[in-house]
Amino acid sequence: MANVAVIGAQWGDEGKGKVVDWLASRADIVVRFQGGHNAGHTLVVGDQTYRLSLLPSGVVRGKLGIIGNGVVLDPEALLSEIAKVTAQGLSVTPENLRIADNVPLILPLHPALDKAREAARGDAKIGTTGRGIGPAYEDKVARRAIRLCDLAEPETLSDKLDELLRHHNTLLRGLGAPEFEKQALLDSLLALAPKLLPFAEAIWERLDEARATGKRVLFEGAQAVMLDVDHGTYPYVTSSNTVAGNAAAGAGIGPDAIGFVLGIAKAYSTRVGSGPFPSELHDEIGKRLGERGHEFGTVTGRPRRCGWFDACMVRQAVKVGGVQGLVLTKLDVLDGLAELKICTGYTVNGQMMKRLPTGQRAQAAAEPIFEVMPGWPGSTRGARSYAELPAEAVKYIRRIEELVEAPVVLLSTSPERDDTIMMRDPFAG
Ligand code: GDP
Ligand code: IMO
Ligand code: MG
Repeated sequence: MANVAVIGAQWGDEGKGKVVDWLASRADIVVRFQGGHNAGHTLVVGDQTYRLSLLPSGVVRGKLGIIGNGVVLDPEALLSEIAKVTAQGLSVTPENLRIADNVPLILPLHPALDKAREAARGDAKIGTTGRGIGPAYEDKVARRAIRLCDLAEPETLSDKLDELLRHHNTLLRGLGAPEFEKQALLDSLLALAPKLLPFAEAIWERLDEARATGKRVLFEGAQAVMLDVDHGTYPYVTSSNTVAGNAAAGAGIGPDAIGFVLGIAKAYSTRVGSGPFPSELHDEIGKRLGERGHEFGTVTGRPRRCGWFDACMVRQAVKVGGVQGLVLTKLDVLDGLAELKICTGYTVNGQMMKRLPTGQRAQAAAEPIFEVMPGWPGSTRGARSYAELPAEAVKYIRRIEELVEAPVVLLSTSPERDDTIMMRDPFAG
């Protein structure tokens, strides 16, 4: 049996949470391996809606959740998320949640720097979630991050805070933002220590054991390939690698443990924040997609930009992300449209291209080349078998498979957990 990695194949919010929750019934362990509480994963189960940012979506099924070392962890955000889902009837304890003891922490100075930088960028802002993700990853790579294990060593913590504050206060001062004081930070971290340390462990050992005993592991990606810090629409990206290759490094397991890679894509496209979006719609159809799809950011509430399905971009995401099977979500949002368009390539400064150009200005100049397909009569919402789909919807799916060069293995037809059609079990490899 293969393990499965789930990654976004567009710009995020494709429905990864719903898919991970659905697949979690077949898994033993669900692992987050990158990103932080910039993610917002929505799960609809009966009359309950869970919005998870840091907790692996498997916790709703009572599966063991692991927050891997590749994540950046905001302790306050985690504790308030645990309190929120506890109020919804879930139980999250060290029995069912384990956190890598080498995970870097997000401290209050990270969102402060994130927001101060965005303000300084003015119109050129990235449109980050303002949660300190970028600055926290910078500190990790610069070898000055506070890690979860440091909470057990007050002297290490104190020394590291000196270095961290030297760096951050210099930057904050330069940006005209308030500086941070060491003692208050140290006190708050020491107060958090007894709440967080019971969750901490060397998760690589647990994953190694899971592997030896044939447990099934589901790796839950956040963000998406086009927000990947290397492969996305840089600099309008997040600060981690979102591709499946990072699931191994972000969890502490070998690359052969990943197994089958599922790429999640909406049947159209959306994006939150700034950056190029060749198939974006600025008309009534774009507005309609936003309304029917309830396209508002789960984390920030910002309206998502909407556009046609970009097969050229998803094909690229399939290749660089290592996607072996596609999950197409939100097909129901296209119900009732007379015709649909699929972007199959771009013209960039008069030249035709079958991939996104790499340069920033070239990406901004990419004009979509569209193929037109007929819409379908009736509704696909809530369909639970292929046979319930109109012929035109099946044709649309088949065309997407051809263009992105990957088979559609799962279909989602509403936010509800069970409104899902499986063509092939990803855990079967
Ligand atoms: P994620 O970040 O990839 O987990 O996606 P989000 O949860 O941020 O956004 C996806 C939104 O679409 C959520 O509100 C889901 O409840 C909803 N959703 C997921 N699948 C479907 C679907 O097939 N149809 C419809 N209409 N909504 C869906
Ligand atoms: P999920 O996991 C959609 C976007 C932000 C911004 C850029 C950088 O729910 O799909 P950051 O705060 O990460 O430095 O912001 O990335 N972004 C997301 N967009 N879904 C997400 O997560 C996102 N996480 C970050 O809007 O454009
Ligand atoms: Mg989301």
